[in-house]
Amino acid sequence: MSFRERIHFMGVSFIHETMYGLFMKAEDLLLAAGVDKGQKILEVGCGPGFFTIPAAEIVGEEGIVFANDINPFAIKKVEKKIAKKNIKNVKLLLEDVTKTSLLDDSIDLAFFFGIIHSLVNIIDDVILEMDRILTKDGIIAIQKSKMSADAIAELIEKTNRFKLIENTKRIVKFSRRK
Ligand SMILES: C[S@@+](CC[C@H](N)C(=O)[O-])C[C@H]1O[C@@H](n2cnc3c(N)ncnc32)[C@H](O)[C@@H]1O
Repeated sequence: MSFRERIHFMGVSFIHETMYGLFMKAEDLLLAAGVDKGQKILEVGCGPGFFTIPAAEIVGEEGIVFANDINPFAIKKVEKKIAKKNIKNVKLLLEDVTKTSLLDDSIDLAFFFGIIHSLVNIIDDVILEMDRILTKDGIIAIQKSKMSADAIAELIEKTNRFKLIENTKRIVKFSRRK
C-alpha cells in the first residue's frame, strides 16, 4: 500500500466517522437494500465499516456478514470495531472482490455501497464472481452514489447474468437472469 493510498484511506475514514452519520442512517440504507434477519451477506468494499456493524445487527445471530475490502487498513479498522463491540457474526475478507474465498452459492445478498464507480473497469470479473457466490435467488444491491440508476443498470446488465428488479431512491437491485 502506497503512502498516497494510506492518506486517502485516512481521509475516507475521517469523512465516514464524522459526517456520514449526519445525513445518512446506515440501517435505513441497509433495509432499503434488502438486508434481513438470518441472511448471509457480502459487504463489498466495507472501508472503515460505517455499514458493517448495523448490517451485523440486522442479520442477527443466525446470519453472517462477510466484510470485504482490498485495503488492509480498512480491514484492520473494522476488526478493531467488531472486537470492541464483541460482534461475532462478521467475518473479514482482505481480498479483491473479483477473487473471494467464499463458497459457491453461499451468499443471499451482496451490497455495494460507495464503490460501484471504482469497479467499472473490472465489472465483468466482479459479476462473474457474484454469479459464482450468490444463491439462485441471490440479490445484488447497489447504492446510487456517483452513478445514476440507468448507468448502473447498463453496466450490470451488459454482462447478461443479472437483471434490474428494483430502482428505489438510493438503491438499485438486481437478480439473476433466469
Ligand atoms: C469509498 S470506500 C466505501 C466504503 C463503504 N462501503 C461505505 O460506503 O462507507 C470504497 C472501498 O472499496 C474498496 N475497494 C476498492 N476496490 C476494491 C476491490 N476490487 N475489492 C475489494 N474492495 C475494494 C476500497 O479499498 C475502499 O475501502
